[in-house]
Amino acid sequence: MGKKKSKEYVCTVCGYRSPIKLGKCPECGSWNSFVEVEVGGSKEAKVTDLPEPVSIDSKSIKFSEERIKTGIEEFDRVLGGGIVKGSIILIGGEPGIGKSTLLLQIAGILSKRGKVLYVSGEESYLQIRMRANRLGVRSPDLRVLIEQNMDKIREVVLKEKPILVIIDSVQTMQTAEASGTQGSITQVRECTRIATEIAKSNGIPVILVGHVTKKGGIAGPKTIEHMVDGVFYIEGERMDVMRLFRSVKNRFGTTNEAGIFEMQEKGLVQVEDPSLIFISDRGNLPIGSAISSVLEGTLPLFVEVQALATPTYFPIPRRVANGIDYNRILLISAILEKHMHFKMGGYDLYINTVGGIKLTSRSVDLGVAAAIMSSIFEKPILPKSVVFGELGLGGEVRPTVGAERKVRQGKRLGFENFVLPSFFKNRIKEDGVNIYFVSDLAQAKEVLF
Ligand SMILES: Nc1ncnc2c1ncn2[C@@H]1O[C@H](COP(=O)(O)OP(=O)(O)OP(=O)(O)O)[C@@H](O)[C@H]1O
Ligand SMILES: [Mg+2]
Repeated sequence: MGKKKSKEYVCTVCGYRSPIKLGKCPECGSWNSFVEVEVGGSKEAKVTDLPEPVSIDSKSIKFSEERIKTGIEEFDRVLGGGIVKGSIILIGGEPGIGKSTLLLQIAGILSKRGKVLYVSGEESYLQIRMRANRLGVRSPDLRVLIEQNMDKIREVVLKEKPILVIIDSVQTMQTAEASGTQGSITQVRECTRIATEIAKSNGIPVILVGHVTKKGGIAGPKTIEHMVDGVFYIEGERMDVMRLFRSVKNRFGTTNEAGIFEMQEKGLVQVEDPSLIFISDRGNLPIGSAISSVLEGTLPLFVEVQALATPTYFPIPRRVANGIDYNRILLISAILEKHMHFKMGGYDLYINTVGGIKLTSRSVDLGVAAAIMSSIFEKPILPKSVVFGELGLGGEVRPTVGAERKVRQGKRLGFENFVLPSFFKNRIKEDGVNIYFVSDLAQAKEVLF
């Protein structure tokens, strides 16, 4: 007997499930983000052919970890050493950030070694060809398919047997195997499932493109993250040329790796020494600026945080954050109020990162606080300095990872002063530079101003 179809509601931002429709998501706090999806409906499983478990070192199964290297080193490195055969990965990013560009470049390179199928559900053949011309991508084995029907795509893949399939984008695909309109959660999930099946059963890697909007978006890639082997995001500001290619989930490599690219006319070009691209000037910083350091994977990056604190004319002061989590700004502002006795309620605060890089590491807390203090005092901070450390609610400065590497790399790049958590006293020694170990915000202020 068939089981009755039932319904459940899924948050399009974080994927939280609920049996009833909720106004606000208890998981991520988004409003009106729930959509209805059908569950069940399948026949009750009959247990007949019992599956047989296989030993982990079975000699009868041919095994080799095969990865396809694209030769774009930063891309390969972030993936953990290349694209694993038979894997399915999702590459997400905001509209216009460069997803199709990067994938067309990769398709171009790999089509020199075998057939690559580039499926587009949102651009015409001529548009893609125009981009390919601009990027200098030309190869008879790069095969373009304009199609939105996943069931047809599956058949074409079986016929063409390419070495790589790219699907741009998963939101434009549809299948008869699921209900719902194109781009709905049910459709996107089912199309992802079919893509996974194509990848796993043929050993062909499949790359899915997923759009994310600033708010997470409808049927955002978040809802399919658990279904794929790896999730990577391209980040940056569209108006700016720098792009960060970041790993969010990776079954075949570490997460928190990132590569840095520059958007040029010829496509995304990797940046060889990216340590310094997110700062405007190493020497004397303008008022309201501080340089902090974060680890991107194993690489210490130096980033400039800018703050502007202006008197507010409204009952509720404005807080605007670009590149840094808004709630983190509220928290740092509250810590400054409580422990440094600044009247933060009297200031509008604007925080910015140079180059539009998004910083999630708490290592920049102290840098943000330094930039805000500099703007309020109208005084630049200690020249040629790097400031990092996490801020605790008690105003204390906490250790963060990679401090030693940051100091060593910072010295190499010409920074002279380092302000960092007192935890590292006796642990970090470096000749030729000044290291100031601070245990709280007040001590940091003494050193910086
Ligand atoms: N001639 C050019 N020179 C330099 N950069 C360009 C040029 N033409 C386009 N671009 C860049 O390419 C970006 C668009 O890239 P692409 O179409 O790959 O993005 P996407 O993420 O696939 O976008 P969508 O969400 O629309 O699919 C533009 O925002 C622009 O920065
Ligand atoms: Mg695109």
